[in-house]
Amino acid sequence: MSKEIFVRFAEPSERARLKAMQAFSMRSLGAPFYEAEVLDAFVADVGTMDDLLLADGTYLVAYSGAEVIACGGWTSRRSVREARVVRGAAQVARTATVCSVYVHPSFARRGIATALMSAIENEILSAGFDTASLTATLSSIPLYRRLGYRSGEAVAVELRKGMSFVAMKMEKRLRSTALRAA
Ligand SMILES: CC(C)(COP(=O)(O)OP(=O)(O)OC[C@H]1O[C@@H](n2cnc3c(N)ncnc32)[C@H](O)[C@@H]1OP(=O)(O)O)[C@@H](O)C(=O)NCCC(=O)NCCS
Repeated sequence: MSKEIFVRFAEPSERARLKAMQAFSMRSLGAPFYEAEVLDAFVADVGTMDDLLLADGTYLVAYSGAEVIACGGWTSRRSVREARVVRGAAQVARTATVCSVYVHPSFARRGIATALMSAIENEILSAGFDTASLTATLSSIPLYRRLGYRSGEAVAVELRKGMSFVAMKMEKRLRSTALRAA
């Protein structure tokens, strides 16, 4: 019998197990899209998650029993890691950034990331933002396109030994599904 899946906010004490799953996910599910050496350098030098997400309480984790099967979150902070596309100040204030979405390879292609993204987008809307932006790995572009994100500029994160990690800026205007009385 399959175990029930539940989602909750991650706690700083879960950092090590989250990072282990993220690295496993990136190395495994990213393998068709990036060379192994590039994935190793990305995981080691850039990292799979900013710890501020845990401190801010904006990072969600999905469990099946005691196993971490997915995680992902968002921030309204200006990213320290990525150069942002320049926008007008008003739009920047209404945009939040989706960060560090990972699914355990054993649970891939079962709609887990889709469900997690729905929860993240609802959190972003509830916090008063109306647009979600993200930097999509090559492995995740099909997912985000399917979820309605529009492609922006390609970016390359410089890594050691002249390697680079190619990704793509994407963005989506969010719409609340909540009913409102006229
Ligand atoms: C990208 C990732 C999060 C997708 O997770 P997932 O739970 O497998 O995604 P879903 O099952 O919700 O996929 C929904 C749809 O997105 C598309 N999609 C997802 N992964 C895809 C892939 N590898 N290739 C092609 N399409 C894909 C498909 O249309 C899929 O629907 P389908 O399975 O009915 O064809 C997962 O592959 C992952 O963790 N990758 C490694 C880490 C990573 O790159 N994270 C993104 C950081 S921005």
